Order: sequence, then C-alpha cells, then structure tokens
Amino acid sequence: MSFDFEPEESDLFRIEDAPFADTFTRENRYRFSGQELKITQTFSANLGVAAPVWEAAVSLCQYFEERKFDFTGKRVLELGAGTGIVGIMVALLGGDVTITDLPHALKQIQLNVSSNMPADCLNFPRVKALAWGKDHHDFPSDYDLVLGADIVYLQDTYPALLRTLEHLCGEGTVVYLSSKMRQEHGAVTFYEEQLPRYLDARLVHRDDCEDISIFRGTKKTHASFREAKER
Ligand SMILES: C[S@@+](CC[C@H](N)C(=O)[O-])C[C@H]1O[C@@H](n2cnc3c(N)ncnc32)[C@H](O)[C@@H]1O
Repeated sequence: MSFDFEPEESDLFRIEDAPFADTFTRENRYRFSGQELKITQTFSANLGVAAPVWEAAVSLCQYFEERKFDFTGKRVLELGAGTGIVGIMVALLGGDVTITDLPHALKQIQLNVSSNMPADCLNFPRVKALAWGKDHHDFPSDYDLVLGADIVYLQDTYPALLRTLEHLCGEGTVVYLSSKMRQEHGAVTFYEEQLPRYLDARLVHRDDCEDISIFRGTKKTHASFREAKER
C-alpha cells in the first residue's frame, strides 16, 4: 500500500461554481491490493468531516489488504463513507457495494466512484443516502459485510447508529468498524458497553501509534443477547 498526503501545487484549485468561497479540492492517490485509487476531497463548510480521508479509513483498507480479503460476489454496505475510499476499494476487489452517507456527502462520493470504477464494470457501486436511525428501513438486513471507518465520533449519534447496525445485520452479516479511539467522544464506552448490547464484537487490529482500533462484529445469538441483557 502506498499513499501520498502532500498535494502537488497543481492539485489545489478553486471550484468555479462552489457555493462557498473557501471551497477547494485536493486529490490524493492510494494503492491497496494492487489497485490504484484517486480520491478527491472537497473541503468546504458544507462537507465538514465528510471531506477528508480519515486515518481510520486508510487503516481499514490496509487491514483488508494485509489479510488478502476476497470480496468477490460479497454484498457490502458502507456507512458514513465520506469520500467513499473504503467502499471503492472493496468494489475494485469484486464486491457488490452500496456506499452511504448523509445527502450532502453523496456528490463527493459519486465523483470518486466515477473516477475510479471503469464505466462498464458489472459491479458499479450504488451511492445512497442513509442517515443513521432514520433511513435504514430502506435497506435490507442480509448484507455479507457492513463497514464503517471513523463513524464513532459523535456521542449523540450512537443510539441511532446502533439501531441502524441492528437493522442491517442478518445472521450471516459481519461488521467491521475502524475507529480512532477518541476518549473525549466516548469511543471506548461505545465499544465496551454500547455495541456489545447489539453485536458480538471483538478487537481484531490495534495501531497504538495512531490510536486506531478495528472491531469485527456479528449479530448477537439468542444466548449472547440474554447474557448481555443480564449484565
Ligand atoms: C469522520 S467522517 C469519516 C468519513 C470516512 N468514513 C473516513 O473514514 O474517511 C464521519 C462520517 O460519518 C457521516 N455521518 C455523521 N453522522 C451521520 C449520520 N447521522 N448518518 C449518516 N452518516 C453520518 C459523516 O457525514 C461523515 O462522512
């Protein structure tokens, strides 16, 4: 894997029709599992935290690369995708991917999908709005994989996020959440106390330098659900 965080002079330019004068884009290139990705980040007041590629997303891509994940034919949903980097990588590796975020982020994701996926590919990712706790009923409950990078960062959203995860997970669904473990935002409490009420989850990767943890979860079985309720 390789990536380049330093923009070239030519990578920085103002968007002519931007709604905000301080909008600019930056393009970074990444390489995971032999796939080159060109990701545009649109920095503006409108996009906020959805604009950049967060380190937790890079970590999740690296995790999949190091373990040589095969996504061929897997039905995958990404939550809070931001730039869409994770979902795009998974689609390039054969996944049947739906990339989601709040409506204001979809244009950026669509742009990145179009720049990275061959127009005639059979598994062109779908890009759809999914606001946690609200829109999840428009999505099925039988994905093979549900992915999220750096989506555990706003305590007020945790109950809605958990309801969405609960809805999206069927018996065979595996969830991967990659998180910067920001103590001040209650990330540790989310993984130690809140998530276990809904999923059987365990830490599968830890990067101490970046303080990033990757958790793998599956829907609770009846027995583990009872145990969690009694705790
Ligand atoms: C810190 S960014 C992470 C973006 C991307 N996954 C990454 O790691 O580069 C958090 C993302 O969650 C999305 N988000 C925040 N609240 C949300 C909500 N209630 N429903 C859906 N998405 C939400 C934001 O729009 C943003 O894209």
